[in-house]
Amino acid sequence: MSAEFKIGVLGAGTVGSAFAGLLQERASEVQSLTGRTPVLCGVLTRDKGSFPEILAEAELIVELIGGIEPAREYVLRSLTAGKHVVSANKQLLSQHGEELFEAASEHGAQLRYEAAVAGVVPVIRVLSESLAATRIERIHGIVNGTTNFILTEMERGASYEQALAEAQRQGYAEADPSDDVSGRDAAAKMAILARLAFGAPVRLDQVPYEGIEHLQSDDLRYARELGLGLKLIGTAERLNGGLSVRVHPAFLYAGHPLASVSGPFNAVTVESDAITEITMSGPGAGGVQTASAVLGDLVSVMLTPAAKIPPATSFELLGDVRSAFYIHMEVADRPGVLGTVAHLLGDVGASIKSVAQWGLGDNARLVMVIHPLEESRLRSALARIAELDFLHSTPRAIRVIEEEFV
Ligand SMILES: NC(=O)c1ccc[n+]([C@@H]2O[C@H](COP(=O)([O-])OP(=O)(O)OC[C@H]3O[C@@H](n4cnc5c(N)ncnc54)[C@H](OP(=O)(O)O)[C@@H]3O)[C@@H](O)[C@H]2O)c1
Repeated sequence: MSAEFKIGVLGAGTVGSAFAGLLQERASEVQSLTGRTPVLCGVLTRDKGSFPEILAEAELIVELIGGIEPAREYVLRSLTAGKHVVSANKQLLSQHGEELFEAASEHGAQLRYEAAVAGVVPVIRVLSESLAATRIERIHGIVNGTTNFILTEMERGASYEQALAEAQRQGYAEADPSDDVSGRDAAAKMAILARLAFGAPVRLDQVPYEGIEHLQSDDLRYARELGLGLKLIGTAERLNGGLSVRVHPAFLYAGHPLASVSGPFNAVTVESDAITEITMSGPGAGGVQTASAVLGDLVSVMLTPAAKIPPATSFELLGDVRSAFYIHMEVADRPGVLGTVAHLLGDVGASIKSVAQWGLGDNARLVMVIHPLEESRLRSALARIAELDFLHSTPRAIRVIEEEFV
């Protein structure tokens, strides 16, 4: 084995250029850890470098192009040639993971992708190594820093539009933020985590997601009175013999470990009977931070064989999931309103946990949290409530995660 370890990098954008710099800066540490000196043998961009030449020379390919093609083709060709691959590409892993895992296993190559989920937070390594033999029951994650930054700004009183503009000004949101604010980016990451935690080859197109575009700062303000804070939460959990993987805004009580995660940070909570709960948090993006996760994968490849990806198991994805809900209504301020609402909720089996009301002249704002029930049942009750003559706005419902670990 040569004392040099040759690395080809595909992409020289935010992460690719940060990685090239970090590799040069940390080469002697990598050498002392692994006994081999990492050497950059080629860089590919749209108008620079040749993939076949880089592939021929490199022992490991770092894919930092993003998107599906040509990243998929390059990663597959690298693995098929027996070259190790490190990638930060959540789209690719969440849509073509099985094909890539099979190619890696068939050709004895490693595929590592720590930076694809939660940036520098080592959640992939923890799930695939530390907790590999643990029966995991549930994962909750704040896996998109852009939306967490926006929600933090909205909690401080900004409107959605103001918070998004601030995120763009500070470089946390792209000019086109739709993948982030729609929840699609988080859904891709939850599909990857579900594969690792449950062996279920969930694809991005199987993960229902709801974003934050429709949220109003009012909801955040009123919910605070009930002790709740709002986050965009990805969930992957075992439920009634099946699985539910989904992304949606959710209120959390202060005792939940994700409740205190603010700004552009990411965090992932893993729950299991054996370990109760662990939470990992840290920066979810940024060139240098992501490059540092990529460098960690590089050192892992050089030091150890990768843990085997658990075999794909069959699974049933559940749709209509039970949840507690926060409900917001604007109503006429007159006797009997709360009783009528409670009655219609009771008809579908919903019971009220807490309620708060604010008078607004002739109107009132009624905000409540109800105990868990299936979403379909809540929606049917809300449709009936929306028809009542004292309703002045369409009722809004947002899920509430009731667990607290205190
Ligand atoms: N940015 C972050 O904070 C972050 C965080 C976590 C994960 N990631 C992931 O890291 C990966 C890279 O993200 P990034 O932000 O660094 O992207 P980026 O700044 O847009 O850079 C992409 C690079 O890929 C090159 N490229 C694009 N199409 C190509 C093609 N057809 N052939 C060869 N090269 C091509 C571009 O070349 P040109 O220079 O010629 O345009 C550019 O150098 C993505 O998978 C992303 O999801 C990023």
